[in-house]
Amino acid sequence: MPSNAEKTEHYFTAHPKSKPKFGLIHANLRGKPFKFLTASGVFSKKRVDLGTELLVKAMVLPESGYVLDVGCGYGAIGIVAASLNPKLHVVMVDVNERAVKLAKHNIKLNHIHNAEVRRGYLYKPVEGMLFNCILSNPPVSAGLATVKAIITEAPKHMVEKARLQMVLKSKIGGKRLQQIFEETFGNCTVLARKSGYRILTAEKG
Ligand SMILES: C[S@@+](CC[C@H](N)C(=O)[O-])C[C@H]1O[C@@H](n2cnc3c(N)ncnc32)[C@H](O)[C@@H]1O
Repeated sequence: MPSNAEKTEHYFTAHPKSKPKFGLIHANLRGKPFKFLTASGVFSKKRVDLGTELLVKAMVLPESGYVLDVGCGYGAIGIVAASLNPKLHVVMVDVNERAVKLAKHNIKLNHIHNAEVRRGYLYKPVEGMLFNCILSNPPVSAGLATVKAIITEAPKHMVEKARLQMVLKSKIGGKRLQQIFEETFGNCTVLARKSGYRILTAEKG
């Protein structure tokens, strides 16, 4: 039976109180095997989410430089990005302290040496940093305002020609969020679609 804390906690709770129940996921992503320690109180604890999988499959990474994974959860997107190109340095950010602990653990578990995890709200932990690419499977359940902020505040944290790449469920605010991409960047492309998800991307500058 789930405890009361488990019943009321969202995956985006900053300090989950429920006792963590751990799990280990094995996933093959971009042709490589990965292991992720997951736990109750974090997003998609039983398997890599379909939207996450689609973003990982479609994401276009820079040849070098800094990559940001906003709302990293237990770390699948940032860890795969780091593993694909050792010339990148990946910064992963999440507000949920349990997710941050898991992502740190998963970096080690997958022998990644070019990624780090910071805890905090949206872009606060990377204030003053500029990225060559921003990736996100955003916390839609936290409200569209949070997702909107990830889009509208992104350009301040991007170098010219950098790309924001985000997975969204077409049915949940998809049209409005695509408009926000257009208003913010003056451009927006659908990079991939599958099973009701789409990957939106926009270039700065
Ligand atoms: C949809 S989940 C995606 C997790 C992970 N990237 C994945 O694909 O499995 C969104 C994540 O955003 C985090 N989050 C929610 N609000 C946030 C905020 N204000 N700042 C940073 N992270 C936040 C949640 O804790 C959650 O881990």
